[in-house]
Amino acid sequence: MANKSLPTSDFRSPTSPKLRIVIVGHVDHGKSTLIGRLFHDTHSLPDGKVEQIRKASEAEGMEFEFAFLLDALLEEQEQNITIDTTQLPFRTASREYVIIDAPGHKEFLKNMITGAASADAAILLIDAHEGIQEQSKRHAYLLSLLGIRQILVAVNKMDLVEYSQERFEEVRADYTEFLSKLGIEPLDFIPISAKLGLNITTSSPELNWFSGSPILEALETLEISAPPEGLPLRFVLQDVYRFDERRILAGRIETGSLKVGDEIMFWPGGKKSRIKTIELWNASVAPTVAAVGEPVAMTLEEQIFVERGQIGGHPGEGPAEGREIHASLFWLQAESLAVNTPFTLKIGTQSVEGRLVEITRVLDSSTLEPLPGSPAALHKNEVADVRIRVRKPLAFDRHDRISGCGRFVIVTGKRIGGGGIIREAEYAGDQTVTSDNITWTISPVTREARVEHLGHRGAVLWLTGLSGSGKSTLATGLEYQLHRRGLASFILDGDNLRHGLCANLGFSPEDRTENIRRAGETAKLMAESGLVVICSLISPYRADRENVRHICERDGIPFAEVYVNASLEVCEARDPRGLYKKARAGEIKDFTGLGSPYEAPETPEIEIQTGVRSLEDSLQELFQFAVDLSRSTEQAVGGELERGSGI
Ligand code: ADX
Repeated sequence: MANKSLPTSDFRSPTSPKLRIVIVGHVDHGKSTLIGRLFHDTHSLPDGKVEQIRKASEAEGMEFEFAFLLDALLEEQEQNITIDTTQLPFRTASREYVIIDAPGHKEFLKNMITGAASADAAILLIDAHEGIQEQSKRHAYLLSLLGIRQILVAVNKMDLVEYSQERFEEVRADYTEFLSKLGIEPLDFIPISAKLGLNITTSSPELNWFSGSPILEALETLEISAPPEGLPLRFVLQDVYRFDERRILAGRIETGSLKVGDEIMFWPGGKKSRIKTIELWNASVAPTVAAVGEPVAMTLEEQIFVERGQIGGHPGEGPAEGREIHASLFWLQAESLAVNTPFTLKIGTQSVEGRLVEITRVLDSSTLEPLPGSPAALHKNEVADVRIRVRKPLAFDRHDRISGCGRFVIVTGKRIGGGGIIREAEYAGDQTVTSDNITWTISPVTREARVEHLGHRGAVLWLTGLSGSGKSTLATGLEYQLHRRGLASFILDGDNLRHGLCANLGFSPEDRTENIRRAGETAKLMAESGLVVICSLISPYRADRENVRHICERDGIPFAEVYVNASLEVCEARDPRGLYKKARAGEIKDFTGLGSPYEAPETPEIEIQTGVRSLEDSLQELFQFAVDLSRSTEQAVGGELERGSGI
C-alpha cells in the first residue's frame, strides 16, 4: 500500500461508519508512540501540530517523540468534558477510524468496560525486546471476556532486536500459545517499530522477511461490527421529563427496535404501556420507528411510573430480573474486595448497592491458573467467578446475549474498583411468566422494613426424607422452639397442603413435581413476608428440590436443604400411620421407598439421622441452624439484621 495523501479536515463526519479500535499493551511497550505515529502517518493531525511539538521538545532539550503527539491530543480533548473515554478519530483514504483510549492507567478499567467493550477490534502491543509481560496477558484476558474477536498483535520495537525474525517468531509462538488458552486467534502478528515508522503505512525494507501487511493495511481489512440484528429491544431509560403535561421518556436503544403503537414493558417491575409517540427535537415530521444505537424520546399511552435505570422491552422478550448476579469479575484496585463488603454496582443507568456473597473461583489473570482454596476476598488483578447480591431487583442480560446490558462496574467510595460481565441470567420470558398480560407489582414495604419489623429475615428450611423418617416431628418441634424464642415461623406440611392447595394432585412423578413446585413457590412467598418457613415434604426428586432452591435463591431468599435420614427399614418399622403396611398389601400404589423412588440429597446443608440421634439433640442443631440462617450477614443485602434479632 502506498503512502496515502489524506485530507486533514472533514474527517469527523458523524454519519459514515467508523472502525473502533482499542490499543492495549504492557506499560512502555509503545502504545502512545503507536497512536502518535498512526495520526502522523495518516496526516490526521491538525496543521502545524507536529512542528509545534517538535519545537516545544527542542526548547526543553528533549528529543521529539511521537508519544508527545498523543499527549497533546489528549490535552485538547480533556476540554471536552462530555467524553468519558477519549475518542481519537483518524482516517485513511478508504475509511474513518476511532481509537478509543483512556488517558491514564487508572482509567484503564473504565475504558475496558465502556470503551473497549464497544470496540470492533483491538491491537495488542508487545515489546519485541521485553516479550510477553503480565499486562500483555491480562489485557488479552479482558479482551476475551469482553468478547472482542478481531485482534491484531503488533510486535513493536523491532529496531531494538536488530529486526530479528527469530525473535519475532519466538514472541509469536509464546503469545499464540497463551492466547489460544483464551480462545483468541489473532488475525495477524506484525513486526513494527512505531518509533521509526516501520511497517506502519508501508512495508519496510528492514523487515523484508515479513511478507504480511503493515499495520494500516491490516486495519483496512478489519470489519466494522454491524449493529447486532435479531436481538430483542432494550431501551435503556436515562431520564423522564415533564413537558407541557406530557411525560417524555428519554433513553437509548441498546438493541432491537421500536415503533409507535408497540407495547412496551419496563424492567425491573414489568410495568406496561403502549408507545404513543416518538419525539424528535427539531423534526418536522415525528418518526414512527427507531432502531438500535439511536437516542430516543417517547411518550406513552397510559401514564405509568417508570424511572431512570429501567430497561424497556417488548413483553415476553424482556431482560432477566433479579437480586442475584452470577458474573466474571475483574478487580483492579489495590484495596481488596472482601465478601460481604458493600459496594455500588452500576449497570447501564441502574445503580444499586450490592455485595459479593460468594467467590466461586479465582483465576490468576496472567497464568490463567485457578488459585487454590476458597477465597474470602478478591485481590488486585484477579479475575473471579462470583455471586453478587443486590438490594433491589436489577434488570440485566447475559453478556454474550446483549453485551450492553450484561456488563457492569463496581464502585467503592468514589472510584471504579472493578468490572465484570454477567455469565448467567434467567429469562422470565423463557419460563415463568406465561401470559403477556401480567405484570409484577412492587410492594412499598421493603425487605429491610420487614426485617426491622420482625427482627430477622425470612428463610426456607426444606426437610426431605421418606415417609416416617421424622420430618413432621422435627418440623413441629422446630417451629415450637422458634416461636418461643420470638422468631416468626410457619410449617408447610406435605399432608396438610394436600388437603387444600394441592388437593388435586396425586403421587405420579408429574404430580409430585407440581406438588413440590407449589409448595416451593408458597414457601418463597412466605419467606418473602419475613417468616422462617419449615417445609416438610417427602420431595423424592432431586431436581424438584433444586428447583425450589433456585426459586428461593433467585430472589435472595436463603434456602437450606435438611435431609431427614432414616433407612427404609427403620421407617417401615416405625410405620406410624400404617401406610407401609398398606403399601405392602398393595393398597397404596407407588409408595415412596417401595414402588416409587427416593433420591437422597447429595449435598444437603444439614443431615439428621433420626434413627441414630436423640430428638432433643437433633432439634438443638436444627434450631441453631435456623437461627443462624435467619440472622446471617449475607442477608445484609436484604436488610441490616445486625440491628438485633429479638432472640
Ligand atoms: S411428595 O412425594 O409429593 O413430596 P408429600 O410429602 O406431599 O409427597 O406427601 C406425602 C404424604 O402423602 C405421606 O406422608 C403420606 O401420608 C401420603 N401418601 C399417600 N400416598 C402416598 C404415596 N404413594 N407415596 C408417598 N406418600 C403417600
